[in-house]
Amino acid sequence: MDVDLLEKICADMRGAPDLGKVADYIPELAKVDPRHFGISVCLADGRQLSAGDADVEFSVQSVSKVFTLSIALGRFGERLWQRVGREPSTNAFNSVHELEVHDGIPPNPFVNSGAIVTTDALLVGARPRETLAEILHFVRYAASDDDIHIDAAVARSEKLTGDKNWALAHMLRAYRNLDNACALALGTYFHQCAIRMSCEQLARFGRFLAHIHPHRSPVRAEHVRNINALMLTCGHYDGSGEFAFRVGMPAKSGVGGGILAVVPGIASVAVWSPGLNKHGNSLRGTAALEELSTACRWSVFEPHDR
Ligand code: DON
Repeated sequence: MDVDLLEKICADMRGAPDLGKVADYIPELAKVDPRHFGISVCLADGRQLSAGDADVEFSVQSVSKVFTLSIALGRFGERLWQRVGREPSTNAFNSVHELEVHDGIPPNPFVNSGAIVTTDALLVGARPRETLAEILHFVRYAASDDDIHIDAAVARSEKLTGDKNWALAHMLRAYRNLDNACALALGTYFHQCAIRMSCEQLARFGRFLAHIHPHRSPVRAEHVRNINALMLTCGHYDGSGEFAFRVGMPAKSGVGGGILAVVPGIASVAVWSPGLNKHGNSLRGTAALEELSTACRWSVFEPHDR
């Protein structure tokens, strides 16, 4: 694994004819130039290799669900699973229908309903401002970088237009699976999604999931296993099977076009390309990870020694 490979992947992605479609249901995200492409890899020996727009910040969106799940597992452990399941879903990430069918229990912590419940759990005994400060502190510590912030314009944009999430929050309240008022839980959730990070920062954040920085891991090993299992099975929603088939890494996507991927024991990887596929996952980001995984034989399903 060297930087030449990342440069080649970057050139291949820049030449790809289909950029995908930038998310426009959050108006502020529709302004992003779809031609951006960045990739960054952190390796077990401490090296970090990057190519393209790896230092350009973007909206992490659903990748932030890994942040809140990590904190919630540490605080609540097994009790979290009384409120949210651990099964993949064949429905879209913002499905309202599915929540009603399952009496208000979200299928997993990575679909929107499950992430809203996770954030609601973190809010108990705290104000939104305090919970957001806790999330930022956690991310900055894991990424070894204090220059990570929330984009208030993106949060405001989603607050005004995120009707599906309002519907989900009200449905959760109706089933007694939301302790806080919808506006409090969603206000916090929209702000966590609006955290801006670059691929370089996100790859460094992911080191504890690959266990390549174990002496300073902010999360216990048993919980890291849980998070990676959920990323593999649910991290790309109803596209998770296809992603496992093509890439074979535990990974979490966001509608900002970022993906955080983990090669346990070997590497953490972040890619960013704003255009999305039909499941709301980065189109070229997925293709780039497939190329990387194939070249390095980094799929966790690889039958040979890596
Ligand atoms: O709640 C939403 O719809 C967005 N804030 C996050 C969704 C998302 O990133 C889906 N992932 N690919």
